[in-house]
Amino acid sequence: MVIKPGSEEGEWFHAPTPYEEWEKAEGLPIVRGHSIDDLRTVPVKPWPRKGGMGALIRLEGSEDSNDSYVCEIPPGGTLKPQRHLFEEVIFVIQGRGATTIWTDGGAKQTFEWQEGSLFSPPLNVWHQHFNGQGDKPARFMGITNRPVAINLYRNLDFIYNNPFVFKDRYGGGSDYFSGQGKLQAGRVWESNFIPDVHGFKLYEWKTRGAGGTNIMFEMSSNFLRPHISEFPVGTYKKGHRHGPGAHVIILNGEGYSLIWPAGSPPTKIDWRKYSLFVPPDDWYHQHFNVGSQPARYLAITWGTWRVKMTKVRQQFNSAKEGGNQIEYADESPEIRKLFQAELARKGLKDKMDSFFPKR
Ligand SMILES: [Fe+2]
Repeated sequence: MVIKPGSEEGEWFHAPTPYEEWEKAEGLPIVRGHSIDDLRTVPVKPWPRKGGMGALIRLEGSEDSNDSYVCEIPPGGTLKPQRHLFEEVIFVIQGRGATTIWTDGGAKQTFEWQEGSLFSPPLNVWHQHFNGQGDKPARFMGITNRPVAINLYRNLDFIYNNPFVFKDRYGGGSDYFSGQGKLQAGRVWESNFIPDVHGFKLYEWKTRGAGGTNIMFEMSSNFLRPHISEFPVGTYKKGHRHGPGAHVIILNGEGYSLIWPAGSPPTKIDWRKYSLFVPPDDWYHQHFNVGSQPARYLAITWGTWRVKMTKVRQQFNSAKEGGNQIEYADESPEIRKLFQAELARKGLKDKMDSFFPKR
């Protein structure tokens, strides 16, 4: 059926989704587009739901699958207690503070965080954040799968005021946020609290190319999964594609990424510390280091190690063999030419020779 704008069907088609209605009602600035240059400077406004300041982030590549936000706690401030039926991964951008966690009738536990900390209040568990400094705001970013929950249940009371306790996700153990972890399957670190992602130990990962290193996290029994990747000076990673909602936060370095739908010219996104971008659903994307130090990023994506999705499995196979990754030998020569030109502007050299087949 062709839906004509202005027709009855068109009006239905273009009506706001329940999530979009929620978004509007929050009364916050909403950042759109493909990227944010610096999460530290996103303007925030009072956010009555949280009792702090905030801005919603809905980059194109999130589609209706997930969203993110920045939230600022005023100096010495405390946010309101919250619980909700969607997952939320929290990354601290500035300052330090603490979070208290509990379930109805259960013991409370509190842990401290600082810039670079990563954690996730378990699904539907009460959590309350505090700023530990009296003279500076604390700012964090949250990545959630709230759009799915709101569009599916269409009832905010069910989502934000639901007594169900997921005992399989949180049993109240006092070491839940201790920062202890376990290395699984080579490169998967299972832990509910990462004190600082900037210095976290990474492991060799050849599949994505260019001498890269990586760690995958499993956190709070979530389906949303963070990982960290790093790649050396003078190198770039292999292009690949997958589903929507991969939030890429630059932790260190300087560079750019190309994003493009198959068969179309790429869009270039320049990045630096605390830039954010989300490659759209099924668009190829490729990351380039043109700085003088290793480039490290944190990405929060769909799909845990335990519950795999088809596209996540396929993205590491060559596109030539029906997969979703472009091997260096198969990419357009323009990719490396642009990279070399960008490096030359900074007096740096391409170190990609060893990753390409010998001529
Ligand atoms: Fe990706």
